[in-house]
Amino acid sequence: MKTEKSGAGNGYRRSIKLERIAEPRVGDIRRFLMNEQIDMNEYYRTKVRKRYFRAVFRKTCQLLARYVFSNSLRISLYRMMGMKIGRNVFIGHDCYFDSDYAELITIEDGAMVSFRVIIVAHDSVREIVSPIVIKKKSRVGVGAIVLAGVTVGENSVVGAGAVAGTDVPDGSVMLGNPGRVVSKRT
Ligand SMILES: CC(C)(COP(=O)(O)OP(=O)(O)OC[C@H]1O[C@@H](n2cnc3c(N)ncnc32)[C@H](O)[C@@H]1OP(=O)(O)O)[C@@H](O)C(=O)NCCC(=O)NCCS
Repeated sequence: MKTEKSGAGNGYRRSIKLERIAEPRVGDIRRFLMNEQIDMNEYYRTKVRKRYFRAVFRKTCQLLARYVFSNSLRISLYRMMGMKIGRNVFIGHDCYFDSDYAELITIEDGAMVSFRVIIVAHDSVREIVSPIVIKKKSRVGVGAIVLAGVTVGENSVVGAGAVAGTDVPDGSVMLGNPGRVVSKRT
């Protein structure tokens, strides 16, 4: 009782950390494991276990989607993985989308994501998890990388091999690594 009131006891600390893990940031689980081993094990018996099956399901969808021939089947698999994908979207072969945070990735109507594109919605260096939006009629070139939190504007282009770490304004072209907006689309 005393510890609960003071906020210094295990029970109190534990509840705070579990709340944080309900919306986990990358690195939370590791920190939690180091600080409060037993509680982490309890957590494993409950929520993380569910997350494990979700991860297996999503990674299976990802694997299949990377290699199937049909664009519509690829898109169905990515939707099953949790991504939000509009109409008339094309996604090339062998892309890698962040399956652990797939629900944070949106590809709007008429967009085209070429083959071997990587889209990641988390960053364990900056310890952030952030949504990515590929807006209507935009183009992401072959081998480009789109990082967490980036919005590719309507009718924009991310050039082949570019690393988009910042937003691409509507109707513009981003090239290179680090990606820079070099021109407006005519
Ligand atoms: C972005 C893109 C559309 C630019 O085409 P463009 O407007 O015709 O560009 P240009 O050929 O006029 O090149 C303009 C400059 O950007 C450079 N450039 C073009 N594409 C580049 C790229 N992907 N990365 C870095 N620099 C690039 C050119 O070398 C040129 O540099 P310079 O002015 O110093 O000579 C094109 O290069 C691209 O990446 N297309 C995507 C291809 C693709 O993904 N295909 C897969 C099948 S859909």
